[in-house]
Amino acid sequence: MPEKALLCFGDQQIELPVLVGAEGEKSVDISRLRDATGLTTYDPSLSNTAVCKSAITFIDGDEGILRYRGIPIEQFTDRPNFIEVAWLLIFGRLPKKDELDRFSQRLTLNELLHEGMKHQFQHIPADAPPMALLSATLSNLVCYHPQFLALGDDESFEEMAARLISKVRTIAAFSYRRSLGLPFNYPNPNLRYCANFLHMMFSIPYQQYSITREIEDALNLIFILHADHEQNCSTSTARVVGSSRANLFASCASAVCALWGPLHGGANVEVVEMLDRIHHGGMSPEDCIKAAKDKANPFKLFGFGHRIYKNYDPRAKILKVACDRVLSQMKVKDPLLDIARKLEELALADPYFVERKLYPNVDFYSGIILRSLGIPTNMFTVCFAIGRLPGWIAQWKEQHDDPTSKILRPRQVYIGNTIQDYVPIEKR
Ligand code: ACO
Repeated sequence: MPEKALLCFGDQQIELPVLVGAEGEKSVDISRLRDATGLTTYDPSLSNTAVCKSAITFIDGDEGILRYRGIPIEQFTDRPNFIEVAWLLIFGRLPKKDELDRFSQRLTLNELLHEGMKHQFQHIPADAPPMALLSATLSNLVCYHPQFLALGDDESFEEMAARLISKVRTIAAFSYRRSLGLPFNYPNPNLRYCANFLHMMFSIPYQQYSITREIEDALNLIFILHADHEQNCSTSTARVVGSSRANLFASCASAVCALWGPLHGGANVEVVEMLDRIHHGGMSPEDCIKAAKDKANPFKLFGFGHRIYKNYDPRAKILKVACDRVLSQMKVKDPLLDIARKLEELALADPYFVERKLYPNVDFYSGIILRSLGIPTNMFTVCFAIGRLPGWIAQWKEQHDDPTSKILRPRQVYIGNTIQDYVPIEKR
């Protein structure tokens, strides 16, 4: 007998169906509540509301568990391959060898930008924020590839996904080169995904950037750990935009804008700036913790806290270990790592953070690894976006494949004026 929840309101008793997820989590279905009672539900910031059914990513925030299509995130860390993970997220299972080869081939064939798009980079200020460029250029892709406006079969969807996942790294690298006034490096079809991105970022004419397997693995790992995180702010944005049947390019471009914010993907920039300020004597780690606890101060301990994780973010756990490994492989001694460790130690021993269950999140250590690879701070959130793109694509596809999905349209509790008369301007 399926469980039901009973809602008593006035003299009415309403039975509400209870949905049970694959891992036993329960959700009260209130979708017909207003029809039955006239009531809506109030859940600002949607912290307690499931807006869809999804089979892509499972998180248990209390236990610190993250799985992609059922596979624990820790299992992707030994020999990381971001492209394999991207296909898994989008198509629901691990690709067979020929499928992965075909997808890699599609990525290679799609790596160039239309020359017309290249000129777009010339006419913007050199210090334009790379996230603005990324969002605008992703949106503009549709002007060059209008055939992807409609959702086709899985085969054409794979081509569309490959196009986006391949071109995003070319766009990102071109915006970086443009900001330095350096010539663009065309993608090299002989390089794997991450190596090709680093080549486009850092090679100079007549001198190929040298990429070791360790560097490639470090970037693969970062991208994998960011690849999906169920209904977070940017993914929900992609779904909201996609729910109006806007195209995939527009949906992903809007997700980039949502990711940009310092409470979301932009936190990786804030973390490094915060660590750098401590390093340069602008404040001590103790001052930093004090400021984060002060309710009169808008300052936050960036890279700490999470809407879902009330335990150590499993991605941060992996990145903390990876930090030591990558920095020693690169023979880099970064004082910011010691400061980060000190801040973590202070926070995890402080009742303010303990009581609120605030732990390091994915952004706390990722910037230190990206720095060691030579990625500049203003490209950190862009790297997050490259990593998250397969997640946005997978969620968009799932939404479009679901025959029950409708345009997303929340309700509100209206608290404005009751009916008023219009007053002509001369009488106001
Ligand atoms: N520093 C200080 N206090 C914090 C922090 C922090 N980093 N995070 C949460 N808190 C406090 C809140 O002020 C609140 O205190 P209160 O109960 O006294 O009012 C309490 O902890 C609960 O936090 P919420 O605000 O309810 O948490 P919410 O789920 O709304 O926000 C968020 C989550 C946005 C991530 C928040 O923890 C934060 O701002 N962290 C810093 C920014 C950051 O690192 N963002 C990246 C998140 S991961 C990602 O998006 C990829």
